[in-house]
Amino acid sequence: MSLAESWDRYAVGSKRRRPVNAKGDTTWLNWTQYADHGPNESLLGPVAGRRVLELGSGSGGNLAHLVTLGATGRGVDIAPARKAVALERWGDLPGLEFHTAEATAFLKETGETFDVVLSVFGAVWFVDPDTLLPLIRSRMAPGGMLAFSHLPPGGQGPKPPRAGLRHDRTPDEWRRILTGHGFSDVRVSLIDPPEGKAVGTMLVRALAA
Ligand SMILES: C[S@@+](CC[C@H](N)C(=O)[O-])C[C@H]1O[C@@H](n2cnc3c(N)ncnc32)[C@H](O)[C@@H]1O
Repeated sequence: MSLAESWDRYAVGSKRRRPVNAKGDTTWLNWTQYADHGPNESLLGPVAGRRVLELGSGSGGNLAHLVTLGATGRGVDIAPARKAVALERWGDLPGLEFHTAEATAFLKETGETFDVVLSVFGAVWFVDPDTLLPLIRSRMAPGGMLAFSHLPPGGQGPKPPRAGLRHDRTPDEWRRILTGHGFSDVRVSLIDPPEGKAVGTMLVRALAA
């Protein structure tokens, strides 16, 4: 089975995003594995007019939210089923496109540059950073921001379809790796889990400057 087929199979078991969140919003950005939890999109700074790429965009809800705030969105996901679901819900939003592609392949082929690259439990977690980060960096506008989240090292979580594919890193490792690939101002935060849950979320931000 190919990697795309494996992720397609994983997609079948994924929950659809609710029509509204606890606050009654119809779109929102969720960096963590828990509903109605964690910071919102404001840590990206204003997104209106900015070109946003999401790597491993899943069913597209996070990216769609940024587009409702005025961004242009490109969602890339290796699983064909994800694009179908994303289009069904968000296909009418102008300025938002979804591509079925493996992240490194997309980055090698695209001629576009992006102001923001995000990955929420997405491709940045599942592709060797020494392969992916130089490609991301090469497609980022000066001063652009890369932001991604994943489980802290050692946490249980979304099991990738193939063993060895999850790239859990400590905060110090991310600082070293990102700096080594030309990113600066690396900020790593650990978001506490909600009450009653044991595992938090690691959120990493860095500038292409
Ligand atoms: C755990 S899911 C998270 C999806 C979404 N970001 C969310 O928060 O709901 C991981 C996603 O990354 C995609 N993915 C994994 N490896 C990828 C790669 N190398 N290139 C593109 N997409 C990838 C999977 O198909 C899946 O949709």
